[in-house]
Amino acid sequence: MTNYSNKSIVLASRPVGEPVADNFRLETTDIGGLEEGQVLIKTLYLSLDPYMRGRMSEAKSYADPVAIGEVMAGETAGVVVESKSDLYAVGDHVCSRSGWQEYFVSDAKDPMTYKVDADLVPLSAYLGVCGMPGRTAYFGLQSEGKPKAGETLVVSAASGAVGSVVGQIGKKLGLHVVGVAGGEKKCAYVKDELGFDEVVDYKSDDLDAALAAACPNGIDIYFESVGGAVSEAVAKQLNPGSRVPICGFISNYNTRDITTARTPFHIFGELETPPAHKFFLVFDYMNEYAEANKALTDWVTSGELKYQETIVDGLERAPEYFSWLFSGKNFGKLVVKVADQ
Ligand SMILES: NC(=O)c1ccc[n+]([C@@H]2O[C@H](COP(=O)([O-])OP(=O)(O)OC[C@H]3O[C@@H](n4cnc5c(N)ncnc54)[C@H](OP(=O)(O)O)[C@@H]3O)[C@@H](O)[C@H]2O)c1
Repeated sequence: MTNYSNKSIVLASRPVGEPVADNFRLETTDIGGLEEGQVLIKTLYLSLDPYMRGRMSEAKSYADPVAIGEVMAGETAGVVVESKSDLYAVGDHVCSRSGWQEYFVSDAKDPMTYKVDADLVPLSAYLGVCGMPGRTAYFGLQSEGKPKAGETLVVSAASGAVGSVVGQIGKKLGLHVVGVAGGEKKCAYVKDELGFDEVVDYKSDDLDAALAAACPNGIDIYFESVGGAVSEAVAKQLNPGSRVPICGFISNYNTRDITTARTPFHIFGELETPPAHKFFLVFDYMNEYAEANKALTDWVTSGELKYQETIVDGLERAPEYFSWLFSGKNFGKLVVKVADQ
């Protein structure tokens, strides 16, 4: 086997508030030989996702924190460059939980490493619309939101990886779909390209008035991704019997002390008639992934499901790109191109 020099980004220290450059460190190591049953994967694309902020903190959530000195956690799409397993051939395209690094030795039987067909949709799409964020939207809206045709759905972070898919599936299901996004460009995309019925710009509109105008029959489902002011405004216009699948609340992720933050659980839980609201995890639906994967790739290949990506260059700059998720500098799924095939 050839020796590979492997660059990785490790967690150097835990952030207090917003992550800064010093929280990360670039390391170079050598990758030696493979053992029987292993494959060597070269990373082509690295997915950057909001949940990674939680993994940088000490607090244990549904997933263990990344340890200091450990490679930052994350999913990548890549290509098999060496194989000591009958399950994979050199040249196969795969997704894996390799973390932020150029090469990854995977056990061929690792369930988090799986083949994808880069002829069907572009490889990077398996990290977004046809991957974890797309599946989150698919199950979050349909199984947690329990939509009925004619109802009003409000989607936060509407131009993003998850929100853009939630709204488009909502339209398919016959809902009145209202997106909430930041800035003119994203709002125009949500309405004109993705086909949402209405859009509210939370950065410039009067939220209460704009939501009331966009949702004349009140709100039946709020797909929660951001928390904060958007949730406060939505809470005032929820209908009896409404559902709020809590997918995330990004506006709280960089709070210095999360125990003092006012989260969606406070905002919705305090209402006189609280909506059904609970946090869900895409991994809760692991046994049904095949169904979502098929639907999402079918819709993308038929042109029914549109998506937007921000593809940026260079693993070394991943920490800087990561901060874009919290300022909204990304437009759609944020992906780092790590290497050419
Ligand atoms: N539960 C699960 O299994 C699961 C799985 C995947 C994702 N998630 C959650 O889903 C949410 C969306 O993730 P994504 O991958 O689709 O990210 P994304 O929407 O592609 O990117 C994040 C977006 O959040 C918005 N944002 C950032 N800070 C904000 C703030 N303070 N207030 C309002 N909006 C803010 C920005 O959009 P604007 O420019 O429009 O503000 C930004 O572009 C996150 O909360 C994430 O943690 C949960």
